[in-house]
Amino acid sequence: MTRKFFVGGNWKMNGDKKSLGELIQTLNGATVDQNVVEVVCGAPSIYLDFVRSKLDAKFGVAAQNCYKVPKGAYTGEISPVMIKDCGVHWVILGHSERRHVFGESDELIGQKTAHALENGLGVIACIGEKLDEREGGITEKVVFSQTKVIADNVKDWSKVVLAYEPVWAIGTGKTASPQQAQEVHEKLREWLKTNVSEAVANSVRIIYGGSVTGATCKELASQKDVDGFLVGGASLKPEFIDIIHAKA
Ligand code: PGA
Repeated sequence: MTRKFFVGGNWKMNGDKKSLGELIQTLNGATVDQNVVEVVCGAPSIYLDFVRSKLDAKFGVAAQNCYKVPKGAYTGEISPVMIKDCGVHWVILGHSERRHVFGESDELIGQKTAHALENGLGVIACIGEKLDEREGGITEKVVFSQTKVIADNVKDWSKVVLAYEPVWAIGTGKTASPQQAQEVHEKLREWLKTNVSEAVANSVRIIYGGSVTGATCKELASQKDVDGFLVGGASLKPEFIDIIHAKA
């Protein structure tokens, strides 16, 4: 079973029209073989329309969050319907900053996942343990329970990419070693096999996130169960193009 390599950029709350416009120009000039790699850029919600209109069609665009209902009195939120109205087809959900800075619960992330999928968005669903959880030997327990809540809310796995992002590796410059990433990805695939199905376990892309750089991406990409990346800091730099080509 071949899983197409997937590289997501997570721009977080960074950039303005000028700097993102320049980044987009650089990205548009890159060669992207869509038979080999799927690339999706996660833009701040206020710039989704702008980014979608400027970024070449060889790139997908993702929102970085959304709410669990189509519309209503939810000040400050955006819905999957609105995201799609901007020509955007992906959303990142359950990112560690949503979980740990904004206090989003597993339950809410599950509900958002169900709603986004029902409304035709692809979901980059993020999971990952904190440093004390890794040191306490409960990495598997944490990522399995986060994955279960997501899995309970998914009917069509073809629209889901699972992003394993150890919290201790995000924005810290401490990339997980290729072995550390492979170990967790392999266990997650086993979990999917046991708890969802063998077909889903074989087809779902499990991508790694946490301080991925042009220098670390190739060895990580060579791991059997690493099907791509979710890239924060380096996705705002021309270096992102090297990461897109990590598998080439
Ligand atoms: P980072 O962020 O690459 O800057 O560590 C990754 C992420 O938060 O998705």
